[in-house]
Amino acid sequence: MLNFTVITLFPAMFASPLSHTILKIAQEKEMISVRTVDLRDYAMDRHRITDDYPYGGGQGMVMKPEPLIAAIEDARKKGKNPRVILLTPRGKALNQQEADKLSQEKELVLICGRYEGVDERVKNFVDDELSIGDYTLSGGELAAMVVIDTVTRLIPGVLGNVKSPQEESFSNGLLEYPQYTRPEELKGMKVPEVLLSGDHERIKDWRREMSLKLTRARRPDLFRKAQLAPDERKSLSAGSSRLYMALLHYPVYDKNGQVVTTAVTNMDIHDIARSARTYGVKRFYVVTPVKALQKLALKILAHWEQGYGSRYNQTRKEALALARLKDTLDEVVIEVEQECGSRPQLVVTSARPGGKRTSFAQLREMLIRDSDPCLLLLGTGWGLTDTVLAQSDYLLEPIDGGTDYNHLSVRSAAAIILDRLLGK
Ligand code: ADE
Repeated sequence: MLNFTVITLFPAMFASPLSHTILKIAQEKEMISVRTVDLRDYAMDRHRITDDYPYGGGQGMVMKPEPLIAAIEDARKKGKNPRVILLTPRGKALNQQEADKLSQEKELVLICGRYEGVDERVKNFVDDELSIGDYTLSGGELAAMVVIDTVTRLIPGVLGNVKSPQEESFSNGLLEYPQYTRPEELKGMKVPEVLLSGDHERIKDWRREMSLKLTRARRPDLFRKAQLAPDERKSLSAGSSRLYMALLHYPVYDKNGQVVTTAVTNMDIHDIARSARTYGVKRFYVVTPVKALQKLALKILAHWEQGYGSRYNQTRKEALALARLKDTLDEVVIEVEQECGSRPQLVVTSARPGGKRTSFAQLREMLIRDSDPCLLLLGTGWGLTDTVLAQSDYLLEPIDGGTDYNHLSVRSAAAIILDRLLGK
């Protein structure tokens, strides 16, 4: 049994949340009790005043210390060594681990602040300060309800199925896998085949994989702390291999806005291939229709792949093995489609302002979640032409160095983009 005492100016706010579903049942089964205490009962004056103006001036009112301290002392006296918690946006962040610890207590006293804050001296009378998130509520009441709810569901026996809290988001430090119920198909959206298979091992593996992918995409902070088996880490990094890259030498703009073909450079091929290999890109295409330039590029590649360079520097050989030459973007798209069985999503980058942009975070999540291949197009010269941009599925947000100078080399841009999309 966990006894909650809530000290608040608005006890009536708690009636509804406590009279439904889990919290109602937990009280009926005497697994929790919730007693609300009206702070006004501890006011020291005839008018039952609980707030006052802030010293030093400023907006709003501050909760007076005397009624709060009297209410806390009374709750301590009535209880058996309760843990006293002040709800405040300045508190330690509440998370599943903290909720777990609280669920093992016998008595919790929750103090709900209001107005602009609580007189600082009250802090000396509490054991902990807790925040439920980085936003400001109008008072601690909703935060206290969140604490009561999340803690109660962790008390053994409160939820019918004893195992279910362990499978929820955060219980294992990961976000929960996607759930489906009937119908099997809705407006063309099907339930993943594995969930209909009846193969419990496969279902378990699929759910674990989805949990890991979702967490990696949406909450890198949690993912970094997650405990992963070595083969899980490996199979997840294989996800990045659906990203292809193409460096377009045609069609691109020159300085005057004319559509031109730019020259192939040794440095671009080397550096982008090395970045591609580092971040697990599946292939790196160099696109130029000019035969003489293709010949030059082939010569560079042959030197490092088969010639003297391949013996001189093995790691360079490994990176350049990702590079392929193509005449046109269409040829690249066809080759990727043949290899993957579906047309790649075309992602373009442009330093020019405007257009509906996809953020790096959105594309990062797509790469982890979706199974379609993605082809990232990089423009040389003064950038990709409008016809290429119009053909694309996604326009990535520009890289912003925070200054008015925006002239990254395509090699540097490629490395920055790859780190944002695939970096750990
Ligand atoms: N009171 C106001 N905002 C709060 C928050 N985010 N967490 C806890 N108590 C609060």
